[in-house]
Amino acid sequence: MNFKTRYLDLRSTPPGMPAHTYAFYALRDLEPGTEMVLISAEDPALLLKQLQLQLRNRLCWQCVREQQVWRVSIRRREDTEASTLQDILSRDHERLDALLVGTLTRLRARGPIAATPEVMEFLEGLRRHIAVENNLLAPAFPSLYGPEEDNPVATMLREHEDIAKQTIMIEELFRETGPDPVEAEIWFGLLAAALSKHEYREETRLFPLWDTLLRRCADAGALIQQVRAGLVPQPGSDSATQARQQPGPDSR
Ligand SMILES: [Fe+2]
Ligand SMILES: [Fe+2]
Repeated sequence: MNFKTRYLDLRSTPPGMPAHTYAFYALRDLEPGTEMVLISAEDPALLLKQLQLQLRNRLCWQCVREQQVWRVSIRRREDTEASTLQDILSRDHERLDALLVGTLTRLRARGPIAATPEVMEFLEGLRRHIAVENNLLAPAFPSLYGPEEDNPVATMLREHEDIAKQTIMIEELFRETGPDPVEAEIWFGLLAAALSKHEYREETRLFPLWDTLLRRCADAGALIQQVRAGLVPQPGSDSATQARQQPGPDSR
């Protein structure tokens, strides 16, 4: 892929604008297929960490120090291959978020019956994601389990139970013929709010811990492969496929 290159020189920011603010707006609006070369007279490690948190891990970068100047080549994460566990799982969060937005749009525009294939695809994707976190990753790092109330794995498992209950409610609603659109939207609104908080907690707390532990694993590559495989639909076993093959009467 040929990237367009732009430059962001933090040694000369506009008057009155802190370097962090200047970099934030430039990187928030970074277009696909564009490389931003950030130039700084100070070590940008902390700045990059803060920006990454604010932009939900949307960035990937490589940093080189040349004498007293740091040059950081920054790209959008989707322009690069996912390599870390955090990256793979965060991208799946984003994919699910986009599916949820698409489902809500369809629901509002065409009604519940037309939106049923998207609903089922979203629910399947969410279940696969939760299954990977519960059944593959939580047992792979038993040292993270703990009795404390705020233990990150216990929190994840507890929130997954609540999310699973909500997905069952939504699925039952959509399996009926002609669910009430207002009720459907209320349930989706509740699920979207729960997911947003849950994903944020995982991305900022749990995934970095998993990534650190994974780097010490001898079979890290095999686990990453299992995670990748677990997140994609298996042919013939996906009810979303069935739903897509059996669209509702007004889904044209
Ligand atoms: Fe989760
Ligand atoms: Fe997750």
